[in-house]
Amino acid sequence: MTDIDQHSETWTSKTWAFKVNGADVQVAVGGDTSLLTALRHDLDLRGTRIGCAEGNCGACTVLVDGLPVQSCTTPLWSVQGHSVRTIESLGADELPATFLAEQAAQCGYCINGIIMTVTGLLARTPPASRSEIVAVLDERHLCRCGAHVRILRAVDRAIAERAVS
Ligand code: FES
Ligand code: FES
Repeated sequence: MTDIDQHSETWTSKTWAFKVNGADVQVAVGGDTSLLTALRHDLDLRGTRIGCAEGNCGACTVLVDGLPVQSCTTPLWSVQGHSVRTIESLGADELPATFLAEQAAQCGYCINGIIMTVTGLLARTPPASRSEIVAVLDERHLCRCGAHVRILRAVDRAIAERAVS
């Protein structure tokens, strides 16, 4: 297959197979369709939010093989055979609960992406340091309403609760 053939294939509608939240899924669309569109419109997983749709705000962040990616700028062809995790995979006793307990949310857009980035960080680096948490949130996530202190408090609480459980 030539490079041109490979590139045109990404524009062609075909069935892309990957895992979402541990389950095998298949989506039949053009490969350049965004992962965000596939999650929200084809798989009806609407917990992943749309913010800027340009890869800048972090609202649409999900984990791919455990690492945070902005699903609005991730083409579906690139997750073929990979494992995607969305906020729907989190149980009531995980980060959403501590964010609720600390009232660490003002809007319905940025927080789900922030929770997924922190979920990935705590899975990779338990317990993450304050500088690691700030660095990973600073890299991509925009919160314009001033919930930053409550967000950090919620992450601290989640780390503390994990330490005693
Ligand atoms: S909606 Fe994807 S980064 Fe803003
Ligand atoms: S909580 Fe969403 S912008 Fe601050």
